[in-house]
Amino acid sequence: MLKGKKCLVTAGPTYEAIDPVRFIGNRSSGKMGIEIAKKLSQEGAEVILVIGPTSQPLSEDICKEIIRVESSEEMYLAVMSHINQVEIGVFSAAVADYKPKLVATEKLKKNENELTIELVKTKDILKEVGLNKKPNQFIVGFALETNNEIDNAISKLNRKNLDMIVLNSLKNEGAGFQHDTNQISILDRENNLINFELKTKTEVAKDIVNYIETKMSRND
Ligand code: CTP
Repeated sequence: MLKGKKCLVTAGPTYEAIDPVRFIGNRSSGKMGIEIAKKLSQEGAEVILVIGPTSQPLSEDICKEIIRVESSEEMYLAVMSHINQVEIGVFSAAVADYKPKLVATEKLKKNENELTIELVKTKDILKEVGLNKKPNQFIVGFALETNNEIDNAISKLNRKNLDMIVLNSLKNEGAGFQHDTNQISILDRENNLINFELKTKTEVAKDIVNYIETKMSRND
């Protein structure tokens, strides 16, 4: 049980504005994070869900508080203003890694044959949270890798100072973005590696939350 434990979950994509009507985004649906927020709540936790643009229904029965954001900067600000109050942070959002350097105030006109948009890195929310982690905080990140999956996930875990990382497999057709199913592996600081089968995102959320619960109870 996670009774009364305060948690923060990020989910969904972020949209990075190009001009007043266009953006750079990705195909994340937010489903995985919603299921995690739901499961944590079912276990008795007080959950804040920070979620980017999604077409998923966001009903009140998901968790205690839902904060809707659009851009990576808005997600960053929402996370930073709540992170000090929580013990568990699960960062499942597909945050854009880059955003346009300048946002046009008027809609861009198609004058030229070619258009170059200069991009700059967004703030790495998870890295900042991990590097400033408090002793009572348990921080979970996600990784999506196409090669050297395990090695890359381990180096991400270390680089961002995480307690655990969920590796999304790209090897299964039913897994990942826009699907109702997902196939994951969990890696932790003690070098444990657990491979799970392809499951519904509801069941995957259960596996992730159960793992967090087990780890937290050992740390208590
Ligand atoms: N993340 C974040 N803020 C960002 C970028 C990523 O909080 N600006 C979080 C994601 O929510 C996820 C993890 O960091 O938990 C993913 O790390 P990232 O370094 O973006 O890895 P990949 O998306 O796998 O891509 P890459 O390997 O290219 O870095």
